[in-house]
Amino acid sequence: MSPDEVLVTCADAALTFGRGTQAVVAVHGANLEIGSGDRLAVVGPSGSGKSSLLHLLAGLEQATSGTVRRAAFLGPYDIGLVFQGDSLIPALNVVENTALPLVLADRPESEAQQAALAALTLVDAADLADRLPEEISGGQAQRVAVARVLAQSPRLILADEPTGRLDHTTGGRVLDALLTAADHTGAALVVTTHDPAVAARFTTRRAMRDGRLLAPEEVP
Ligand SMILES: Nc1ncnc2c1ncn2[C@@H]1O[C@H](COP(=O)(O)OP(=O)(O)OP(=O)(O)O)[C@@H](O)[C@H]1O
Ligand SMILES: [Mg+2]
Repeated sequence: MSPDEVLVTCADAALTFGRGTQAVVAVHGANLEIGSGDRLAVVGPSGSGKSSLLHLLAGLEQATSGTVRRAAFLGPYDIGLVFQGDSLIPALNVVENTALPLVLADRPESEAQQAALAALTLVDAADLADRLPEEISGGQAQRVAVARVLAQSPRLILADEPTGRLDHTTGGRVLDALLTAADHTGAALVVTTHDPAVAARFTTRRAMRDGRLLAPEEVP
């Protein structure tokens, strides 16, 4: 993979929820290109459209107008999304949750298990391997969700406030794990965050305000 391959392109991509007088424009015509190896932090206040933009990039939401184009070579497991909210499957323990994308991709179980444990170690959560989601804290669940994407080793990592429920030290370690993994595999990494200290670790920062993705020079 050449270092400047384009993975996803948004051209005037907009996302509106609801219709008529109930309509909420979560994202106004966003223009954005994500290339392999990119390190992008999307910053903005609550409700500004960060999660919505990430869901558009992931293909989880369809643009209401404009286009979001993903490179043809990207398969279903080449994009990994760390959800902002709870996303672990209650009936599976931590290591099973972490291994799930690999199991779904038909990788051998022992390989999936090993990759899951290695990823859990990167976020200091290997000791939680046998616990169920209801037996771990919110911040621990967030670290497991990050580990699940690291185990998957996608070409594009989209992480929605991956440190939002973590203290400064733990959050720093999770960010280290994401950045190191992306360096290792050449993946692009896009995070959303409220935290200027998190954003400062990214080469590119883009701000959102009221659904608008501001131009690069407009980061306040
Ligand atoms: N499923 C939905 N139905 C209707 N409105 C929605 C839906 N999801 C998001 N919105 C609205 O879209 C706007 C953008 O929401 P979004 O979740 O993208 O913001 P955010 O920047 O991620 O906020 P936060 O920092 O709180 O996570 C908000 O006004 C929100 O209320
Ligand atoms: Mg959000």
